[in-house]
Amino acid sequence: MSPEEKKLFIVSNRLPIMVARDGDEWMVNASSGGLITALAPLMKRNHGIWLGWPGCGPEAPVESLLEAHSAEQGYELRPVTLEEEQVEKYYRGFSNQTIWPLFHDLLGYCDFNAENWNFYNLVNERFAASVADFLKPDHFVWIHDYQLMLVAHFLREMGIDTHLNFFLHIPFPSCDLLRRLPWKYEIIEGLLQYDHLGFQTAHDRRNFVQCVRSLIPEAAIKGHRQRSEIILEGRTVKLGTYPISIDFDEFNSFARSKEVADAAWFVHENIPKRTLLLGIDRLDYTKGIPERFLAFERALEKYEDLRKQISLVQIAVPSRTKVPQYRDLKEDLDTLAGRINSRYSTEGWVPIHYMFRELNRTQLLGYYRACEIAFITPLRDGMNLVCKEYCASSIDNNGVLILSEFAGAADQMAKGALMVNPYDLEGTADAIYAAFIMPGDERQKRMKALRAEVRRNDVQRWIDWFLQSDQAG
Ligand code: G6P
Repeated sequence: MSPEEKKLFIVSNRLPIMVARDGDEWMVNASSGGLITALAPLMKRNHGIWLGWPGCGPEAPVESLLEAHSAEQGYELRPVTLEEEQVEKYYRGFSNQTIWPLFHDLLGYCDFNAENWNFYNLVNERFAASVADFLKPDHFVWIHDYQLMLVAHFLREMGIDTHLNFFLHIPFPSCDLLRRLPWKYEIIEGLLQYDHLGFQTAHDRRNFVQCVRSLIPEAAIKGHRQRSEIILEGRTVKLGTYPISIDFDEFNSFARSKEVADAAWFVHENIPKRTLLLGIDRLDYTKGIPERFLAFERALEKYEDLRKQISLVQIAVPSRTKVPQYRDLKEDLDTLAGRINSRYSTEGWVPIHYMFRELNRTQLLGYYRACEIAFITPLRDGMNLVCKEYCASSIDNNGVLILSEFAGAADQMAKGALMVNPYDLEGTADAIYAAFIMPGDERQKRMKALRAEVRRNDVQRWIDWFLQSDQAG
């Protein structure tokens, strides 16, 4: 039976919905996002299951809420509810204050806390127990991301030998960094309990292989161009590279709608006669937002003809607001934007328009269409889908993309984008100027190449790749 004929059993930390209390009532809010949009048709077709945290604890009447929603969606949603202490120690603690910074090469942000590690184990075990409850022989089990690296380990402990797939959405660190983690063996050995591991880039896959080579010398490693295999204790684990993407057609056609055109007009109407440089990110210290502001300041300092001619629009979407480092970053950015604006603003011109808010889809695409330059400079990023969304929405082929070489997307976008090292303020400032003065025909040529790349390698291709590679011997 091919993976397409099986029922998809997706497991991720978050369900594609959030259950939240609104006064006395409980509500189910659907989330959007590439992965959900891409998987939904397949999930409907083969009546799949999606298991994850609905964003609430056991006090919510979650089963009945999800039943109605599942019927509407055409596939089953199964909740793993978490108590506040579990959210604090497994999610905010170990996932987001240990693994997240470590895997993004930011050792200085890491908190190595044994209590949080215990909770990470405990919650992974709970996820495994829930998988075991619903698992059937015709399921294709696909577990996602860094919050759930130990689910396979606990399933094996329960005696379950089903074929298990895993995809890591964030980078995998070098061995030098992973060695700092007190539980490195447990994480590597845990990951090796999966049968098929997917990474965003060849670099991430190679880092993983290096870690196995150095930490588990008895493992045999076979390398191919796109894939590797690790053979350990009679089992073979397949490793592949599958860069995630977006639904190109959906962005491309929605960007042509009247509502998006109106939203784009509104953006420019509010900031008239300027070239707009756009940053959109979750407010996260991996995204390099302070460095971006400083590079923009440096560009204004160095290239006087940019002044009054260009504005940076930075939208920071609230994220993980209960994690202290995210709150600190918010304060730092407020101060930095204030300082740069007070230094350069003149009558009728504000250099940085900085907003801390969520955007709906129409507004998001309105910004993509209105802003002449996308300025996407993470310090490290698994992939970064904003740059792909920007290109798919750039329907007149006129946008310029400035992209960090440390985004996973760099592998695919380097030919059309202006590549920068976000730590290099001087070089990034120069790239801003180069984008500003870029002639129309060069903009067109580069953007056409970028759009062709995103169109060819869209999210459906990503799913197909993963499923088919699993099947290939
Ligand atoms: C990244 C991670 C996802 C995560 C998302 C939002 O993209 O790879 O696993 O869901 O950030 O973060 P949150 O902590 O709000 O789920």
